[in-house]
Amino acid sequence: MIHIPKAEYTRRRKALMAQMEPNSIAILPAAAVAIRNRDVEHVYRQDSDFQYLSGFPEPEAVIVLMPGRQHGEYVLFCRERNAERELWDGLRAGTEGAIRDFGADDAFPITDIDDILPGLIEGRDRVYSAMGSNAEFDRHVMEWINVIRSKAHLGAQPPNEFVALDHLLHDMRLYKSAAEVRVMREAARISCVAHVRAMQASRAGLHEFSLEAELDYEFRKGGAKMPAYGSIVAAGRNSCILHYQQNDAVLKDGDLVLIDAGCEIDCYASDITRTWPVNGKFSPEQKAIYEIVLASQEAAFKQIAPNKHWNQAHEATVQVITAGLVKLGLLQGDVDELIASEAYRAFYMHRAGHWLGMDVHDVGEYKVGGEWRVLEVGMALTVEPGIYISPDNQNVAKKWRGIGVRIEDDVVVTKQGCEILTGGVPKTVAEIEALMAAAR
Ligand code: GLY
Ligand code: MN
Ligand code: MN
Repeated sequence: MIHIPKAEYTRRRKALMAQMEPNSIAILPAAAVAIRNRDVEHVYRQDSDFQYLSGFPEPEAVIVLMPGRQHGEYVLFCRERNAERELWDGLRAGTEGAIRDFGADDAFPITDIDDILPGLIEGRDRVYSAMGSNAEFDRHVMEWINVIRSKAHLGAQPPNEFVALDHLLHDMRLYKSAAEVRVMREAARISCVAHVRAMQASRAGLHEFSLEAELDYEFRKGGAKMPAYGSIVAAGRNSCILHYQQNDAVLKDGDLVLIDAGCEIDCYASDITRTWPVNGKFSPEQKAIYEIVLASQEAAFKQIAPNKHWNQAHEATVQVITAGLVKLGLLQGDVDELIASEAYRAFYMHRAGHWLGMDVHDVGEYKVGGEWRVLEVGMALTVEPGIYISPDNQNVAKKWRGIGVRIEDDVVVTKQGCEILTGGVPKTVAEIEALMAAAR
């Protein structure tokens, strides 16, 4: 299995610590286990920030980073080994495993954190944490601080500054390393195979969930623990619902089906959308809309390169989509004026993409100092223009209504431009029709 190597987690911790102010401490909790119902848990997914710095896959753990500490800069609090619990729930690293397998300089049982952590914080001037994103953990941090404050009359020195960790950490996460790109390529590769399989299986009379099952089969077979987000399998008019999740309608002859789905490998997401005719052959109207969306995506790729800013790709899609809609008579007027008045938003109401990484809508600022961010090598993003003609749109001829098309690929910015990670699924009308014809 392709995964992030251990040395990379060490490098990330060092890089973060190098950016922290002198005499500070960073504290990050693992994701909590989410209860599904009674004693049934949701599949566990580590918190992305926690995973980024540790690769430690267990709940009930806390990372502590103390740059410059002589007895070790990286302390991990985690669950102890427990033969009884491990018999029921699976193996744990324990404190020894945390040091041996996960690079911690020191490790303590999580049950001892209230006794030990205040002593580690004491004397440090600043505390970095993800303030505001986990109310329960924020409360714990304050409790630990108050333990130190209560001993101030004995000379204990509580920290005076609390700093949001997100800014430093999320900027690091925005730039993908070679190892991260390798993992993202693998997630993308598996998701491509899954989309091809769903295309080949497409038949009128099946349900949307039948195609979802084809995706899940390839995701799991490829080693993905889970999809990176709830798969969208939207046939007919459902393709006009941007985040459709029901996935239980029947696939009808003559309709399109839009699938937006991607798997997650070692906590890295892929995010692909393809739209194809259920019966394998585009109608003239479906094809006309599809060709505009595809052309707009091609135009966007050309705007993704170092020194281009974040919004240029979006602007390119707006230009091509608006001009295309005018040509088809779906919008009337001057293209520039229709862009200025955002008339296209009746058909294209979302942005052309988002950062992609450990979170499908990944962290990282889109603007810096009020200006669109300039793209740099290693940034990963999606390119996903779409046209959605509402089934209830009375302003257009009936033949157009209910057509929804989105095409989405994942790219990484390179020195020359960008690398498309998800090129393994057919995309042109001819390619899709050929693949589907061969599967019949
Ligand atoms: N799957 C959600 C998105 O494409 O942003
Ligand atoms: Mn998507
Ligand atoms: Mn997306």
